[in-house]
Amino acid sequence: MPNLNINGRNVSVDAAGDSPLLWAIREQLQMTGTKFGCGAGLCGACTVHVNGEAVRSCQTMVSDVVGKKVVTIEGLSAKGDHPLQKAWITEQVPQCGYCQSGQIMQAAALLAKNTNPTREEVVDHMDGNLCRCMTYSRIQKAIMRAASDMRTASNVSGERRPT
Ligand code: FES
Ligand code: FES
Repeated sequence: MPNLNINGRNVSVDAAGDSPLLWAIREQLQMTGTKFGCGAGLCGACTVHVNGEAVRSCQTMVSDVVGKKVVTIEGLSAKGDHPLQKAWITEQVPQCGYCQSGQIMQAAALLAKNTNPTREEVVDHMDGNLCRCMTYSRIQKAIMRAASDMRTASNVSGERRPT
């Protein structure tokens, strides 16, 4: 049984190496925050992080992530208070909600590298994550808000740091 590191825990999954990571996460580990949308790499509903990069878990095989760090929406923040999750609530982004965990994971990969993206960079980065409810403008607004909050937080902690 392959051993995986998911959300900081080492777990063994009863899944063949060539089965999609999405199924190991949802069926074996019962973490259902990651969604099945198209199953073909076209919608982004199944987005998780592998070594910090946003990937489509429906197109990533279990054997591809052995020895790597996988993070799902459940592990993005211990208390569900990642700046993106807070901004999502403030901006009331979701409609049906189905695509939203994938949207947040895709956005989190961007902000982990760049907390000062332009609107164009955000749009470009989020391009492959589809939302049938058309919440795109609220998604973009929430990402810009979260980025701003992250910059403020890092300025405050920088100011507090002893010199
Ligand atoms: S379910 Fe994986 S990209 Fe659509
Ligand atoms: S909120 Fe319904 S699909 Fe995006």
